[in-house]
Amino acid sequence: MEEWIPIGYLLSAALFIFGLKKLGHPRTAPRGNQYGALGMLVAVITTVIKMEAAGDAKWTLIIAGLVVGSVIGIIMAIRVEMTGMPELVALFNGFGGAASALVALSESWKYIEDTTLTVPSGLEIQVIMIAAGLSALVGWMTLTGSILAMFKLKGGISVFGKWFKTPTWGPTWLNPVKVLLVLSVFALIYLSIDDPRNTDYLWAIIAISCILGIVLVLPIGGADMPVVVSLLNSLSGIAAAFTGFIVGNSVLIVAGSLVGASGLILTFIMCKAMNRTLPDVLFKSFGGSGEKAELTRTKVGSDADEVAMMVDGAQKVIIVPGYGMAVSQCQHQVKEFADLIAEKFGTEVKYAIHPVAGRMPGHMNVLLAEANVPYEQLIEMDEINSEFPDCDVAVIIGANDTTNPAARSGEGPLAGMPIIDADAARTVVIIKRSLSVGYAGVDNDLFYMDKTMMLFGDGKAMMTGLNNAIKDI
Ligand code: TAP
Repeated sequence: MEEWIPIGYLLSAALFIFGLKKLGHPRTAPRGNQYGALGMLVAVITTVIKMEAAGDAKWTLIIAGLVVGSVIGIIMAIRVEMTGMPELVALFNGFGGAASALVALSESWKYIEDTTLTVPSGLEIQVIMIAAGLSALVGWMTLTGSILAMFKLKGGISVFGKWFKTPTWGPTWLNPVKVLLVLSVFALIYLSIDDPRNTDYLWAIIAISCILGIVLVLPIGGADMPVVVSLLNSLSGIAAAFTGFIVGNSVLIVAGSLVGASGLILTFIMCKAMNRTLPDVLFKSFGGSGEKAELTRTKVGSDADEVAMMVDGAQKVIIVPGYGMAVSQCQHQVKEFADLIAEKFGTEVKYAIHPVAGRMPGHMNVLLAEANVPYEQLIEMDEINSEFPDCDVAVIIGANDTTNPAARSGEGPLAGMPIIDADAARTVVIIKRSLSVGYAGVDNDLFYMDKTMMLFGDGKAMMTGLNNAIKDI
């Protein structure tokens, strides 16, 4: 049986890599997900076989863990609303980091307690302590940072029915504090090399790492949250890789490195989408204070019939989806609208996709794919922006920050973020419930332009009304 263990780990690592490759395209992504899940199943079975072969398998604990974990996972997956997915992902990142740090802690504890224990071949207890220290740094920082990020995505926390807004706070003096905290963890890891069985160092590293997670995420808010979430995802993988090194598990090193590397690539893609560098996001607190702009202007709303008539004469319509489409779950009505005008009026329809529209990477692509919108019609921001001057009507559904011209100015939470140039279209139709601000809290001049028609109401109700009005023409 033992000779199958490396083969099992090799197979699961290969499944992770193939799965990741398949995730690169929306059409193959579901298969990629299945490969990843299968890879994890093979890894778990192989590990259990390995434990059984070594005589370490504690079946009651293993089965209890599997049952409790599976039940919690299934309940969370069934209950979570599509709009709650980003918070759930943030929480999972945190749990991933904490799980890795806990495994590393328990493993290093064995060597601390039992001096007769032999460490895996070629490793010294000092090396184990360095890896445990690094795993603790990254893992605990990821846990506290991710929990705070989850509440930031939620917008606040409810305690005994009272709602408290998640603060965004980052004075410049906090930056040297962050650097000092990181350096002190490295110093403690260095000290633990000479005195590896002194557990005080380990506890101090854990405490500082927990504080570090909070002070790193606290100043970041508004439009910069996507960068933080993908960075935390990457960190949870790095923590797993360190832990794989401690427990001598090759597949954990491979899987952790894959998550770490792909998360880092995503972080840089997000930074590029926001026109920021990673140090800017981490140290400059671009995200703003979290305060929402006070609205002083008004705008009279249009109705579905008026918008339907406007669309009737349009040769080219570009649909710009945003977070509101996810909230109202109106992607099917949006697809129906596109099909209707293409069929009835011969209109050319495209979708403009902003990289950070919604609340998680690829949010709009996932929703529109669910409604069977052809992938060829989903055009990335960089490519579609040049088409807006030729566009008769830009229909914005629940998007706000990603179309806000304020981002072109050098100031405020959206400063410098590239946007969808919907304001360059001949006419703009915006479907949302009110004039209220988007995630970054910045008032949007686009709402008040003469060429803009506001269709106030829930996305699904408004799209249904608009589709009916078009059918009646
Ligand atoms: P947002 O700026 O968040 O605006 C969404 C708009 O949808 C709101 O202004 C809201 O206006 C409207 N809305 C809400 N519920 C609605 C409903 N039921 N029907 C119709 N409209 C509804 O959206 P965006 O343009 O997609 O920008 C995304 C923002 O989130 C960016 O700032 C981005 O940085 C941030 N963010 C993104 C991510 C990722 S990875 N994508 C992660 C975290 C944060 P009303 O209340 O007036 O209806």
